[in-house]
Amino acid sequence: MLDQNIHEHSKNKILILGSNGQLGRDLSKNLSKLGEVTSLDRNGFDFENPESLDLIIKRLNPKFIVNAAAFTNVDGAESFEKSAYQINSLTVKKIAILAHENNAVLIHFSTDYVFDGLKEEPYLESDTPNPISVYGNSKLEGENYIAEICSKYLILRTSGVISKNADNFISKIINLSNDRDELNIVSDQESSLNFSGFISQAVLEMLAELKLNLNEENRWGIYHLSGQESGTWYEFAKFTQEISKKINLDSNFSKVDISPISSSQFIQKAKRPKYSFLSSVKLKDNFGIELPNWKNSIIKVMENNE
Ligand SMILES: NC(=O)c1ccc[n+]([C@@H]2O[C@H](COP(=O)([O-])OP(=O)(O)OC[C@H]3O[C@@H](n4cnc5c(N)ncnc54)[C@H](OP(=O)(O)O)[C@@H]3O)[C@@H](O)[C@H]2O)c1
Repeated sequence: MLDQNIHEHSKNKILILGSNGQLGRDLSKNLSKLGEVTSLDRNGFDFENPESLDLIIKRLNPKFIVNAAAFTNVDGAESFEKSAYQINSLTVKKIAILAHENNAVLIHFSTDYVFDGLKEEPYLESDTPNPISVYGNSKLEGENYIAEICSKYLILRTSGVISKNADNFISKIINLSNDRDELNIVSDQESSLNFSGFISQAVLEMLAELKLNLNEENRWGIYHLSGQESGTWYEFAKFTQEISKKINLDSNFSKVDISPISSSQFIQKAKRPKYSFLSSVKLKDNFGIELPNWKNSIIKVMENNE
């Protein structure tokens, strides 16, 4: 039985692209429970020079290709449109073609920013996207290529990814507080925060179920992966401060005044949706998986839990 498991494990070759990102790092750790993982960061495969991918996939012959790489700087994408489209859309098209030709399952991540934010209630997978930024549009193009080209794929949309020791909302507000007495945080944009460890655990559980019967599988498509509650950036910041006081964080962040401001008072290059909370009901219905809420995500990042 053990031999059988070892044999199955080595047959499940998993290629992870973007392995140095928040999600990429957690997935590289977590998915090794499922199969033999090859993790490639920017040095192993550069999305701006995708020619080598053919050879990589032919040599490795992965059963799953997991794309965690992306041009994720939402404001930066407005200035570096060409790179954003190359990384989030054109190279994704190439990955989709190669996954399909090599009969590999493609797992790809996308974003709540494919929506315009006008809905005012949780977005479903069946809602029509209408991005309002270059980032959102480039991610939607990537999604569309996969849906057109692949037959076995999961597009996993999430929001506000946070993790330890990475560049994200939590690290930004803590760093900003170093030389300020007051932080003004936007209180009229509503979404959610999700710890990368929770997302990668959900992906592990999804793939573990899928691999039981890949050829008969009919649950392919788009899924929203988010915790059960929405919140504003202001609420996220206030709660993070509450935790920082509880754990006696050695930072000015515990003392800084946090004030709410409107999006119109906080000028950013890219437009953001006012409301982009993702309903994860389909994930629960099809896979029986629920992600913890944003408070738990913040606690995971602030406290040193693994
Ligand atoms: N971050 C969020 O708040 C958020 C919200 C919603 C959805 N998502 C989606 O979730 C997924 C993962 O996000 P994340 O938070 O883990 O992002 P992240 O931490 O910014 O990681 C993205 C990774 O992509 C890599 N990358 C960028 N350009 C590349 C290139 N030319 N070639 C190869 N690799 C390249 C980066 O490499 P380097 O480490 O070398 O820079 C980085 O490791 C993405 O699809 C993103 O769109 C993220």
